[in-house]
Amino acid sequence: MEVAMILGVAVVAVTALLTFSSFFNKWYYEPVLKPGQPPLPPGSLGWPVFGNMAAFLRAFKSGRPDTFMAHYVAKYNRVGFYKAFLFWQPTVLAATPEACKFVLSKDSFETGWPESAVELMGRNSFAGLTGESHFKLRKLTEPAVNSPKALEQYVPLIVVDETLRLANISPMVFRRALVDVEFNGFTIPKGWHAEAWLRQVHMDPHVHPDPEKFDPERWEKYGASPFTFIPFGMGNRTCPGNELAKLQIFIVVHYFVTGYR
Ligand code: HEM
Repeated sequence: MEVAMILGVAVVAVTALLTFSSFFNKWYYEPVLKPGQPPLPPGSLGWPVFGNMAAFLRAFKSGRPDTFMAHYVAKYNRVGFYKAFLFWQPTVLAATPEACKFVLSKDSFETGWPESAVELMGRNSFAGLTGESHFKLRKLTEPAVNSPKALEQYVPLIVVDETLRLANISPMVFRRALVDVEFNGFTIPKGWHAEAWLRQVHMDPHVHPDPEKFDPERWEKYGASPFTFIPFGMGNRTCPGNELAKLQIFIVVHYFVTGYR
């Protein structure tokens, strides 16, 4: 009888703890919106501390990182924004060309790398600097990494775009909302992080049909319309090394094709 009672109390306690935990992030982080403000995007802030990191890591470790965003699209439709809790921060995931363009081109957002990444790269790195100091660092470094103008003629001719679409090294880029922002019927609260999911734009079948297929010829057929091919980001933090990176890929492809036995 006593064992049954102890078991019963334990079950009630665990259930209560799980229920409390599942609501904690929502209660603690989601702001009370002002009357007339649109709702937060759909999604969930997950569990205390870890949020949605387990699903994120599972997807990336499985070798199929796209399954992470695919889950949101399947569950909440292709609404552009979803809320989540990643890298210990309440976050909005931007997952369509329009949503990414909004996050990357508006002054209402500044860079928002996770704190641990800023620590690793340094407060005075591109990841840490904002405003005037960021602008100055770009002016100083950009000419050094951009390849000569002439190369621009050749670089678009090779298969590089399709490689970058499928195998981009920057699945997402990080921003932080400086004020409450409204877009597409949703509110992004001040202080929340926003991740522009470049990879999701490239793997979205509405944007690039049959996205898993490596098909260099797709570029001849439709050419990317604005903001649908953004491996190097956009806005005031567009990758300054983009031409150099394309050149490097070109050199690798060249030697691979001409030297392969
Ligand atoms: C395939 C190779 C590359 C890819 C896919 C890539 C992608 C990106 C992306 C998406 C960003 C934007 C980050 C943001 O918006 O916060 C970025 C920024 C940056 N990239 Fe690249 N990159 C590549 C190669 C390079 C190379 C070769 C260099 C230098 C030689 C470089 C230097 C930088 C720097 C300094 C920034 C920071 C710019 C800023 O914050 O203003 N990248 N890169």
